[in-house]
Amino acid sequence: MCHFLAALLPLLASLTIVSAQGTACSSTNPCSSDAPCCSEYGFCGSGNFCLGGCNPLASNSLTSCMPMPVCQDANHTFSDNSRILPNATDFDGNATKYDWVVDKGNIINTNSSGGALGMVLTESNGGTRLSSTRYVHYGTITARVKTGRWGGVVTAFITMSNIKDEIDWEFPGAQTTQGQTNFFWQGFIPQTTNGETEKGLSDTYDDYHDYTIDWQPASLAWSIDGNTVRTVQASTTKNGSVTEFPSTPSRIQLSLWPAGINGTASGTVQWAGGMIDWNDPDYTSAGNQFQAYISSVSVKCADPTPVGNMSSYVYGSNSSTSTPNITLSSASTLLEGGAASTPSISTSLAKKIGIIAAVALFALIISALLVRACLQRRRRKARASQTTAPGFGGQTYSSLKDSTVNLADTHVPDLDYGGNQYPPAPPAYGGQQPYNSAPQYGGGRPPYGSQQEQFRRY
Ligand SMILES: *[C@@H]1O[C@H](CO)[C@@H](O)[C@H](O)[C@H]1NC(C)=O
Ligand SMILES: *[C@@H]1O[C@H](CO)[C@@H](O)[C@H](O)[C@H]1NC(C)=O
Ligand SMILES: *[C@@H]1O[C@H](CO)[C@@H](O)[C@H](O)[C@H]1NC(C)=O
Ligand SMILES: *[C@@H]1O[C@H](CO)[C@@H](O)[C@H](O)[C@H]1NC(C)=O
Ligand SMILES: *[C@@H]1O[C@H](CO)[C@@H](O)[C@H](O)[C@H]1NC(C)=O
Ligand SMILES: *[C@@H]1O[C@H](CO)[C@@H](O)[C@H](O)[C@H]1NC(C)=O
Ligand SMILES: *[C@@H]1O[C@H](CO)[C@@H](O)[C@H](O)[C@H]1NC(C)=O
Ligand SMILES: *[C@@H]1O[C@H](CO)[C@@H](O)[C@H](O)[C@H]1NC(C)=O
Ligand SMILES: *[C@@H]1O[C@H](CO)[C@@H](O)[C@H](O)[C@H]1NC(C)=O
Repeated sequence: MCHFLAALLPLLASLTIVSAQGTACSSTNPCSSDAPCCSEYGFCGSGNFCLGGCNPLASNSLTSCMPMPVCQDANHTFSDNSRILPNATDFDGNATKYDWVVDKGNIINTNSSGGALGMVLTESNGGTRLSSTRYVHYGTITARVKTGRWGGVVTAFITMSNIKDEIDWEFPGAQTTQGQTNFFWQGFIPQTTNGETEKGLSDTYDDYHDYTIDWQPASLAWSIDGNTVRTVQASTTKNGSVTEFPSTPSRIQLSLWPAGINGTASGTVQWAGGMIDWNDPDYTSAGNQFQAYISSVSVKCADPTPVGNMSSYVYGSNSSTSTPNITLSSASTLLEGGAASTPSISTSLAKKIGIIAAVALFALIISALLVRACLQRRRRKARASQTTAPGFGGQTYSSLKDSTVNLADTHVPDLDYGGNQYPPAPPAYGGQQPYNSAPQYGGGRPPYGSQQEQFRRY
């Protein structure tokens, strides 16, 4: 019995390797080769995990994430929603087919005056976020937006790179005469904040305004209806030898999200104008929905080197965390064979994997306990006859503890697969593990340094 178990133990331990799919990842803890891609939400996987938002610096290798579709000049006008894929999980990397994916939430189209995209926030949907399928590696992006006007609700138009370079236009809460501009370098919150409030707008809820992010290699400018309201020179963002200025290909993201709900950091709630009033007449009269509208998003690319016939951006082999090397490539952005045969874990497969992992772990624990009991018995016997005891008992036990931790990581979120609200139940966007209880809409921090402590980067 003891011998049999000792042989079984490594086998079971290897079975729990399936827990690599769905384990948390970061640049100091990158993904293993069997689940190589670190998703936007910070979990390892393959297939879909390797598309938009996949972080090369936290993935198995710099080439684990799929090449990113190159920038293309366009004016997206939303006369209907046919260019928007309603569920990002179904995306196969074909940016010719869709301009946008819905990462979470629900969209509508006004179907009037040429149409407009409506982003929906309900008490249960947790808000809506869309991402462009193409990346911009410098460029001028203008969104024509009607924002929300409700305490606790944030409307946002941002750019976000896979390593979390970010440029924001954000409209928190009930304030309809101002917008906030902000930028981040690789998700880093600087000591002196980069945020700024732009005041004196005419009603941002009733009126469409053109909000522009003009992102160039050496400077960044924000404008409203063609008037520049803020400019930042890259050279002024130097911190020692590192220029803390966005420099990596970014997706455009549009969102309407609930900051004023339980579970949000109190400072963020304050910044967004308090808790959301779900009895607001705007909400109830629209059939229990808040909506914000986008009537167009125009993109003028400003790549540092001409794109020519290249199809994708890739992080170059000489990437470092301070200055990643971006190069153009002709490599396909499509998951192998397209959507139908993507290796991404489906919900049911993910559940199966979770169950297998759970069963394997359970068996592993039981047998490890038995082995330990065996060893202790042997040890006692050995002690009784000789003075030396076998030395590997402790080791086995500690590696077992490690896999318990991994499985807990994988497994608790599994319960939320298919879920669509958070908090308290975070959604499993893209069949992925919910990241954490905080929304990932970018921004979400007040522009004032003094409060910084309360706003941990999500
Ligand atoms: C994009 O299209 C809209 C609607 O036709 C138009 O009003 C706007 O000027 C266009 N933007 C650019 C930059 O061409
Ligand atoms: C408006 O457009 C959406 C698709 O974008 C469609 O589902 C909906 O039925 C349309 N509504 C009307 C009233 O035509
Ligand atoms: C990508 O989408 C376009 C437009 O729908 C289609 O023509 C093309 O065949 C697709 N490419 C692949 C490889 O599926
Ligand atoms: C400069 O970089 C250091 C080290 O990364 C960081 O601790 C510090 O906060 C940065 N300074 C500012 C002003 O952002
Ligand atoms: C939010 O928290 C408050 C205070 O803790 C509580 O009274 C309220 O019921 C909570 N609301 C929800 C929707 O959980
Ligand atoms: C892409 O452009 C390069 C240089 O401009 C050219 O040599 C190459 O043949 C082109 N490739 C295709 C597939 O058109
Ligand atoms: C960037 O990466 C490419 C491809 O990996 C490499 O050929 C090029 O030399 C690198 N550029 C720099 C400046 O390191
Ligand atoms: C990577 O690039 C940096 C700066 O461009 C350079 O100092 C370094 O030698 C390069 N490393 C390799 C391995 O090419
Ligand atoms: C998106 O698709 C995935 C996988 O098919 C599914 O689990 C999820 O519920 C879908 N999300 C929405 C909002 O429909």
